[in-house]
Amino acid sequence: MKARAEAAIEDAHNKIHASSADALLAAERLDITLPGIQRPIGVKHPVLRVMDEIVAVFKAMGYSVGEGPEVETDYYNFESLNFPPNHPARDTQDTLLIAGQEHKPSRDRLLLRTHTSPVQIRTMEKQPPPLRIVIPGKVHRNDATDATHSPIFHQVEGLCVDTNITFSDLKGTLDHGMKALFGSAVKTRFFPSFFPFTEPSADVQISCIFCGGKGCRKCKNSGWIELLGCGMVDPAVFAFAAEKQPAYDPKKISGFAFGMGVERIAMMKYGVSEIGQFYAGDMRFLDQFV
Ligand code: DAH
Repeated sequence: MKARAEAAIEDAHNKIHASSADALLAAERLDITLPGIQRPIGVKHPVLRVMDEIVAVFKAMGYSVGEGPEVETDYYNFESLNFPPNHPARDTQDTLLIAGQEHKPSRDRLLLRTHTSPVQIRTMEKQPPPLRIVIPGKVHRNDATDATHSPIFHQVEGLCVDTNITFSDLKGTLDHGMKALFGSAVKTRFFPSFFPFTEPSADVQISCIFCGGKGCRKCKNSGWIELLGCGMVDPAVFAFAAEKQPAYDPKKISGFAFGMGVERIAMMKYGVSEIGQFYAGDMRFLDQFV
């Protein structure tokens, strides 16, 4: 009797189980012949891609990569770069000050950095010479937005310090850098300029990458396009760095620095005419870089 009862119970149990498993299978039926779901894969933003490319060009020449804060002090953004207090050169930078900081001393006064140059001093304070470093980063200016200006943009800064560094080292390095970025047919030329932290200072132009130097609308028929600022590090800047690292003695060492805008280079490389397209988040624009 017991064995028959057990067999009947087991039988019933199996039936219930089997039917619920069948129902489950039927409900979850998959058509494995359907195509899979394509998941869109993200890609690097074109501005960051160009920034990485610039950094890679200098890495290949033995440069290391550094960083610094976007919220910076007046001391690093201006004072130690040889912009004296109230000097008119400060006006050229359209600085965004942080509210309530106006009357603090230079070393405490916070602002949004207007360029990546403050990281020159920060790096020298941490590391004795010789130094070869590139600094990619975001910078901020109180600039009206137009086709080529944005209040937030990116720069890559470079600094090389050693014994016997000359202006011809600067020319050779940047000429090679521009050829690596834009193609070996590109020529460079250097014009006298002014930056408080370099002496002498120069603006670098490259032969127009659109017309090869013949003259076109993009280069305003001059055959040349201005691309970056550079110069020999001003001894006054070394003197500020030497307060923490005495090895930056301007009598013993010399160096050069340069700085370039990443968006400007990205716009040239990709033929983009409105800087705002980089920030609009419009997939129809960004999809072109996949
Ligand atoms: N900091 C400058 C700017 O934002 C660019 C620059 C010019 C950087 C000359 C340099 C330099 O290092 O040597 O306008």
